[in-house]
Amino acid sequence: MNAKKVWTIKDVLLWTSEYFKKNDIQSAQLNAEMIIAKVLNCSRMELYLKYDKPLNLIKRKEIRNLVKKRATHYPIQYLLGETEFYGYKFLVDEGVMIPRPETEILVDAVISYIKQSNNDQWNILDIGTGTGIIPISINKYFENKEVNMHFLATDISEIGLENAKKNIELHNIKNIKPIKSNLFENVSTKWRIDIITSNPPYISDKEFEDLQKEVKDFEPKLALFGDEKGLTYYKKILQNAENFLNKNGKIFFEIGANQKDDMEKIIHHFDYKLIDIIKDYNDLYRVLIIEKINKKQEVI
Ligand SMILES: C[S@@+](CC[C@H](N)C(=O)[O-])C[C@H]1O[C@@H](n2cnc3c(N)ncnc32)[C@H](O)[C@@H]1O
Repeated sequence: MNAKKVWTIKDVLLWTSEYFKKNDIQSAQLNAEMIIAKVLNCSRMELYLKYDKPLNLIKRKEIRNLVKKRATHYPIQYLLGETEFYGYKFLVDEGVMIPRPETEILVDAVISYIKQSNNDQWNILDIGTGTGIIPISINKYFENKEVNMHFLATDISEIGLENAKKNIELHNIKNIKPIKSNLFENVSTKWRIDIITSNPPYISDKEFEDLQKEVKDFEPKLALFGDEKGLTYYKKILQNAENFLNKNGKIFFEIGANQKDDMEKIIHHFDYKLIDIIKDYNDLYRVLIIEKINKKQEVI
């Protein structure tokens, strides 16, 4: 950006958008708008209302620093420190998995299941909570309804837990307890659970190379990878869930695009059954609803 010229919002937008295109940043225009709007503390729409307004050097420098960092493929969500999920704002810290739109399918599935049921009391465990989007979004949906909910949100990552705590505070929620735990390790067996939700690390070794630079270079490996086929965490959760679930308790898993067939075998192996399977916006199997097989019932 040339310092002598008068730079308007329009000029900076065009320059940034072009710069991003040259650096292979997807959605160049949107990224430019998001960064400039953040620095000017306004909405993206307002940028177009103030299109011809000149920008001072301090603001331009601030924008330029963020733009340069984004051009290295550093994720926009880390850069801005926030993202949107299920219509809500969530804070996202570097080192924590960035929420994906697919996970809204899981949240929708849990909400529909709870709405269809007659229960007004729910104990819900979210394993690998990251930013806390799953329990927070479910809880917010039922906030003013006559449903009593208690959540335990676990993560093995300290940074993840701290991020979840910030979001719990941001949304002023009292009934989600974040705890550090390797899967079920610190979950009391006395706590009977109605629903387990989990979007565990599920990227396979093979899929790694095809990931976007943003993901490969900047998102935490601990949040992404689930061994050679990406299935380890599902197996571990199914192996232990029985000790915690209430009778008729359900597990809601988000799965990877090609994991449905393997998951069906695993579910069968651990004596669970598939209650429902839900596709995402790209017509890929994305969410599984699972229940333990009641052996006595099977015999009858
Ligand atoms: C795919 S991310 C999902 C994050 C968040 N639930 C979401 O949907 O955006 C998986 C999460 O599992 C956590 N995790 C990895 N291994 C774990 C373990 N052994 N026990 C508990 N959490 C674990 C990671 O730190 C990460 O936050």
